[in-house]
Amino acid sequence: MAVRGDQTSKMSHIESFKRDVDEGLGAKNKHLPSRYFYDKRGDALFVEIMNTPEYYLSRAELEIWTDQSNRILENLQVNSHGVDVFELGAGDGTKTIELLKVLNGHSYDFKPIDISQNALDKLEDKIKATMPQVRVNGIRGEYFQALKEIQSDRKKIILFLGSNIGNLDPAQSEDFIGKLRSLLRTGDKLVIGFDLKKPKSVVLPAYDDSKGFTRDFNLNLLERINNELGGNFNLALFDHSPEYDEDTGVARSYLESKVDQKVYIKAIGKEYSFQKGEKIHTEISRKFTLEEIKRVASRQNLRIVETFFDSNRFFTDIIFEKEEQ
Ligand code: AVI
Repeated sequence: MAVRGDQTSKMSHIESFKRDVDEGLGAKNKHLPSRYFYDKRGDALFVEIMNTPEYYLSRAELEIWTDQSNRILENLQVNSHGVDVFELGAGDGTKTIELLKVLNGHSYDFKPIDISQNALDKLEDKIKATMPQVRVNGIRGEYFQALKEIQSDRKKIILFLGSNIGNLDPAQSEDFIGKLRSLLRTGDKLVIGFDLKKPKSVVLPAYDDSKGFTRDFNLNLLERINNELGGNFNLALFDHSPEYDEDTGVARSYLESKVDQKVYIKAIGKEYSFQKGEKIHTEISRKFTLEEIKRVASRQNLRIVETFFDSNRFFTDIIFEKEEQ
């Protein structure tokens, strides 16, 4: 697979990791960016999370793609000139394979974009094994960097599934949707997967599964700091602490210090203090109503082509195209 991940990007990864960790742990309200969850172990833990009974999101979205793939294909209006399918935050591609199956017979290239090289490699292996005829061209990068790679002379389908949009704050997500909109030409389609607002009794367990995969996923951030930046975090001295606010639809994950403690990070050359009960905010996972989504679409000049729901109405995948002025 052609992937843009080389020595230079490794160097800049360490530099940005150091900068983000220093900025986040030095702040009054401590925070760490969730994109650092995804190293090899984080990817594997996320796959475990997706298979837990509590994490309804993946099952709900997969149900949409398996049960309604033909209707999704119809609404994507693929023509005989073929199509380039870009997928942002492709992950393990389980849902996408459902789309690729129904695209069979059309000429298309699949261009998954993911921050994790490991996830891209695994996805390529999976597609090679199940659909050897598909041309896969992986692009490694963060969402905003990767936008410049989304170019094609053919019709484009841009997929942003799995409620990845929910991991961006409101301003970032609106900006990002606006940027995606600017890449669309007439006939191109954008598909976004949104988790819908629902009771706390359903959402909170999805971020606090009984087997502890989500806890380990969250703690893996500290482990990564230990491994890559020479930190001396004692993971046993932090708790995974998720919250969900039904009104705002915002789930937040925190790592809470169990004791007063100090942690040294060698690559930064600094020590950081934590008080007992002090929290590091590590992730936001936003849930939406259809009305909120419609308002964003209208502000960003996007037209809703079709809306798909799972049988519980937990999740929605929406096809957008640009609003012709
Ligand atoms: C990738 N993303 C949509 C997941 C979510 O639900 O916010 C990441 C995750 N974090 C904890 N569990 C799953």
